[in-house]
Amino acid sequence: MTSPAPQPGADTPGTAALDWWQHNTTMSQLTDGESARLHPETLALSFGFDPWLSEGAVKPPVFLTSTFAFRHAADGKKFFAWAHGEGGHHAKREMGLIYSRLNNPNLEIFEDRIALWEGMKDAYSFSSGMAAIATTLLATHEPGDEMIVCAPVYGGTDSFIHHFLKRFGIRAHFVPAGVEAPERALPLVTPRTRSIFIESPANPNNRLTDISRMREIADRHGAGRILILVDNTMAGPVFAHPARVGADIVLYSATKFIGGHSDVVGGVALANDDNLLTAISHHRALLGGMPNPYTAWLLTRSLETLKLRAEQQQRNAQQVAAFLVGHPKVRRVCYVGLLGPDDPEYAIYQKQHSGPGSLISFYVRGGEPEAFAFLDHLKVFRLAVSLGSTESLAQHPAAMTHSGLTAEDKLLGGVTDDLVRLSIGIEHPDDLIWDLQQALEHV
Ligand SMILES: Cc1ncc(COP(=O)(O)O)c(C=O)c1O
Repeated sequence: MTSPAPQPGADTPGTAALDWWQHNTTMSQLTDGESARLHPETLALSFGFDPWLSEGAVKPPVFLTSTFAFRHAADGKKFFAWAHGEGGHHAKREMGLIYSRLNNPNLEIFEDRIALWEGMKDAYSFSSGMAAIATTLLATHEPGDEMIVCAPVYGGTDSFIHHFLKRFGIRAHFVPAGVEAPERALPLVTPRTRSIFIESPANPNNRLTDISRMREIADRHGAGRILILVDNTMAGPVFAHPARVGADIVLYSATKFIGGHSDVVGGVALANDDNLLTAISHHRALLGGMPNPYTAWLLTRSLETLKLRAEQQQRNAQQVAAFLVGHPKVRRVCYVGLLGPDDPEYAIYQKQHSGPGSLISFYVRGGEPEAFAFLDHLKVFRLAVSLGSTESLAQHPAAMTHSGLTAEDKLLGGVTDDLVRLSIGIEHPDDLIWDLQQALEHV
């Protein structure tokens, strides 16, 4: 439980919460140096929660309360002043608990731990990935602003930018994701450009975009600070850390690898800059997109096994991709793990990723009928949208997750009728390959 808490001692990204914890929990026997040496997968089991504030419970209880008692009226006044922005972002840690739309221990524990995973200053949790994305875009853009978007992006994000933001006078230019994206973005930068939005790998074609090159272009050619927003859902927090290569804001659908069990919908926005964090928290409070305490509790539970799951999924995906590459019914496989030194995106992979992850897209020979025949005959894979869970999933982006894209955007993102997307789970890899083999016989 993190509130009430004194002001953290350090401004270094990713260490603010660590410092506070070190100095203010009764449970920690760790010295400062020892805590700083620990890895996120170790801290994911205990960080930010003091059992002695909760009857000795080893795991955080679920704080199912909408409102919190103030000890004195003056405390309520002070906490509200901080909630309204007085004292800047640092006040978040000093602020006592007020009301579960503004703060709640379960949300704060999850936010501290995911910020540690990313090595970023702070995080805000949301009721869904779309709530995180929509709230962040509304918090950072004004009518008249322009965005550059590397396509394809998740269908919901595409729709929000294309239709919703357009109604509020925010205009987007789309460029195809991949090695050429920065050079294509360059001539589109105007004095009104406020942000560049990237998914890398992109959903669903797994194209990689060079985030640090985009940062250079933004810094050199922008009239003011052009924000680099990266939706890192597809890579997940184990294999890529976009803020280390220039992202200002990192976004997640926590429904995917973070939640990891297809039993929770959630989202996260992370930043290092105090003003951005304050803007996101204010807009979350106004729009009401926070998760409920149980959702935050489930996400916290899931962070404990994040690395284990992600690594097993990745091992399985490498074997599945190798099988698909050689299959006569498969025209082309898009998997980051198949990039070789001769591929133009390989250098981006090396710079931005510590592993290829577990999302594979492939083109069957044929079109929609062949893709559907394959999907309809799967027995171990579930035919369902979403990704990053313990069970393997398969879906048809053109007819499902990306069905809302315009024909032009589908073409831009390679979302054709013969494309199938797989999310690889933690099953035995031989069983997955057997399933794919038998389903491909029906193509
Ligand atoms: C890359 C990406 N971003 C965002 C979202 C939206 O997340 P949610 O469904 O949690 O709102 C998704 C959902 O599939 C996604 O794939």
